[in-house]
Amino acid sequence: MNRLSLISSVLLISFSFFAYMTVSEGPEDYSFDELRVIYSGDPSGWPSPHVDEGINWKELGDNPGSPFRNVDSLQALTSLGQVLFFDPRLSVSNQISCSSCHDPERSWQDGRMGALGHDHRSWRRNTPTTLNVWAIETLFWDGRAADLEEFSLLPIQDPIEMNMDLETLPQKLQDISGYPELFAEAFDDETVTLERIAGALSQFQRTLVSRASDFDRFMRGNENALSDRALHGMHLFRTKARCMNCHHGEFFTDLEFHNLGLHFYGREREDLGLYNVTGDPADMGKFRTPPLRDVAFTGPYTHNGLINSLEGMISMYDAGMARPRPRPGLEDDPHFPVTSDILIPLELTDAEKEALEAFLHAISERPFRMRRPELP
Ligand code: HEC
Ligand code: HEC
Repeated sequence: MNRLSLISSVLLISFSFFAYMTVSEGPEDYSFDELRVIYSGDPSGWPSPHVDEGINWKELGDNPGSPFRNVDSLQALTSLGQVLFFDPRLSVSNQISCSSCHDPERSWQDGRMGALGHDHRSWRRNTPTTLNVWAIETLFWDGRAADLEEFSLLPIQDPIEMNMDLETLPQKLQDISGYPELFAEAFDDETVTLERIAGALSQFQRTLVSRASDFDRFMRGNENALSDRALHGMHLFRTKARCMNCHHGEFFTDLEFHNLGLHFYGREREDLGLYNVTGDPADMGKFRTPPLRDVAFTGPYTHNGLINSLEGMISMYDAGMARPRPRPGLEDDPHFPVTSDILIPLELTDAEKEALEAFLHAISERPFRMRRPELP
């Protein structure tokens, strides 16, 4: 081989290697520029999402905001709810408020694997954010509450959360000077009742919304609000990575229940999720699809908080999620929870995993600031 051809073959090899590197880092079906053109257009012209037959999906959308915010006639009720939400005297110990676990500075959750409640007892489930709950009709990881009014009193009386005797709570607040006035402003009557406490807490929570994210800005016409990588991630989220099967619409959830194999059936950490509510063996190990807005700031992840990072979540999805096998002796158990068959190995490249993670960051924004209000 003469010198010239040696040089040219070295050049050729390095060029093809370089070309290979750039190709493998970009989207496999469109170029970055094509993706930007496609996704800057109306969603009706976007590529069809990769969803299984029979899935009733809804296109992703920007944050619609809450219709319960800035309503003049609800102002007094909202203020009362805010005070109640931050007041530790709603707990028997006078130490724990809703905001202890749903902390405004931590995107209205606590950043812990399991919540820390009354007497420092640990709650086995991870605390979800209270942002956007006005739109979330299925509350709790196992969906056991359908509306906020029904829900709001549960943590107050829960022995591991605030452990307060609901029968004595109204009188306790009635006797704190300042509260009767706040109730009078909100209800034209100063009597404290459980129903009113629940009503005010619910109204306040319905005003808590995520701030606009890069994704929202992109959807509202700012074509450059998403980086190439995040845009690639959005495309993958809708297509190859199959996330749209369950996380769709403006809040990235179908509000349905699925089994990701994280139930620890028959083990110490067992949590059977929806089955605890319905008693139907088919529901074993199913949990509500969590909304994903602000998800970059609400770790650790899943109902038991066992997964520390988004990277970890994405790797698990890439592997087809967890498919635990029955322990010896349980092989014939007809109730052994079955992981959803929507979850299959995805064969994502490293660049694709990073793109997906970038998209999850792009649908997240730091929360608005809210100080603890002055308490009566
Ligand atoms: C000790 C920590 C703790 C306290 C105190 C607490 N919560 Fe929670 N909250 C949690 C945990 C944990 C969950 C999830 C429980 C589950 O799914 O089983 C939750 C769930 C919720 C949800 C459902 C969110 C969703 O997306 O499903 C709302 C709403 C909520 N809490 C509001 C409140 C209110 C209002 C108060 C005060 C009256 C309160 N929480 C007090 C830990 C706490
Ligand atoms: C079969 C429906 C389904 C599919 C498909 C799916 N998810 Fe999920 N996702 C869920 C459910 C259900 C949970 C909660 C599981 C639990 O707690 O046991 C969850 C949890 C999560 C969480 C943790 C959120 C939190 O607040 O703890 C993230 C992040 C997430 N999914 C992202 C994704 C991404 C990215 C994809 C695509 C690669 C995807 N999901 C595909 C149903 C699904």
